[in-house]
Amino acid sequence: MTNSLYSRLSGYDGIAMFATNVVLAARKDDLLGRFWTNRGEDRNARELQLLIDYFVKETGGQMYYRGRDMLLAHQGMNITEADWARFLEIAGSVAGEMGVGPDEGGEVMAFFDNLKDDIVVA
Ligand code: HEM
Repeated sequence: MTNSLYSRLSGYDGIAMFATNVVLAARKDDLLGRFWTNRGEDRNARELQLLIDYFVKETGGQMYYRGRDMLLAHQGMNITEADWARFLEIAGSVAGEMGVGPDEGGEVMAFFDNLKDDIVVA
């Protein structure tokens, strides 16, 4: 497990910080902010925790993910290619600011890429 992406991203705390920074930036973003309008704080907090849990599990950490799969969770939101490109831009800049190295950054981007077909409308 020491060589897992989870460990190389500094474990739970590193992943929680990455996910939190990405989500906070996405909620404030001119293009992506529309997905989070009129939502209560508790709902946002629960969603962020599910994102952290999912990420931890998928990168090799010990976690039991209790949320929905990516297809079901994003169905009907009409997330477009442009939204997806903006999301990757935000994730890339957060990773850069956090000092995530190019190898790990590339693996995170590949991980997102694998989920794209479930999240973005065709
Ligand atoms: C443009 C990209 C994305 C947008 C706009 C977006 C938006 C959202 C929104 C608004 C929710 C809340 C749904 C609700 O409360 O009912 C959500 C849930 C979630 N998203 Fe995303 N998302 C994006 C990409 C991703 C990616 C790349 C991942 C995985 C790494 C992800 C993981 C999750 C998870 C785990 C949940 C919670 C699932 C659950 O409620 O059971 N999302 N997303």
